[in-house]
Amino acid sequence: MRVYEKTNENFYEIVWNARLQFVIKNLSVVDEIQEALTVFRQADLSYFWSLNSLELKQEEAVSTKHYYTGEVTLTPHEPELARDRFLVAEEANKQQIDIILSYIDEDTDVIAELGAGYGGNLIRLAKAFHDKTGKSLSERDIKLFMAEFTTTGRDLCLEFLKRKNAPEMELQYIDHKAPDLSFLGQAKNPLIVTVHSIEQVTELPADYFKVLSQAGANVRGLHMEPVGFQFEPEAPKWAKHADFMKRKNWNHNFAEVIKQAEKDGYITIDKVDTTFADSQRENPTTLIAWHSNT
Ligand SMILES: C[S@@+](CC[C@H](N)C(=O)[O-])C[C@H]1O[C@@H](n2cnc3c(N)ncnc32)[C@H](O)[C@@H]1O
Repeated sequence: MRVYEKTNENFYEIVWNARLQFVIKNLSVVDEIQEALTVFRQADLSYFWSLNSLELKQEEAVSTKHYYTGEVTLTPHEPELARDRFLVAEEANKQQIDIILSYIDEDTDVIAELGAGYGGNLIRLAKAFHDKTGKSLSERDIKLFMAEFTTTGRDLCLEFLKRKNAPEMELQYIDHKAPDLSFLGQAKNPLIVTVHSIEQVTELPADYFKVLSQAGANVRGLHMEPVGFQFEPEAPKWAKHADFMKRKNWNHNFAEVIKQAEKDGYITIDKVDTTFADSQRENPTTLIAWHSNT
């Protein structure tokens, strides 16, 4: 039997695989991509998905270690709770898409989401862009890159992209711990986005924003991440959230690394909005925007 070490990456490898099996089993008849995405999110949020674990005795020690088995147990929520979770998630997602839309300008030639999960944000962005401008992103020569660490996240994205009205996008591997953006090639004005993905990485490498800032001629970055407590460490309102992040072993150094990148002259931070969104009450979202110095 295969077992998985308890890392945040393995958590998502298993989580996206469970969703992939669910979509293949239940949603293969839904032919249109946006409809499939909506039905998927409704179904997704109507269950609690818990990852099964087991304890294994360590060979050379008396201690035991916990592993994921790869199996997932689905427990249905009460219908009212399921509906509320869906509505809250839709509202939060709309706010995120609206912000990304507002950062697309005449010169944008690439939009890349790093840690894109199954590509849901980009699929919705493509529709929102079309609704707003009457043109598709590819008609405007804007190329979409969906970059994700897990194979299963990318497989789930491909499962959605088989459907009618699917936007064009290129799928790539990314690891925030060692980012390599060479797949962006000769991008002139890329917009690089992350949404609750850097949160998963306990410690970003010191050169993270240097690498991102060199991924094109004029790079802009847009991050919606739960890092408000890092920018306002003294504020009592963040105590519970900071504690949550620590307990989860999630990111603790985004603010430090981005401020250092600014001091070192690689980027200019344009905006830090710690009040951006708190739909995930335990995990409120801060918006950070920056551009590269050229
Ligand atoms: C909460 S999900 C968010 C997914 C997507 N951004 C969204 O908003 O739907 C976190 C994502 O971060 C990814 N992730 C975890 N560790 C990562 C790493 N080291 N590098 C890049 N992505 C990672 C996970 O695989 C997962 O897809």
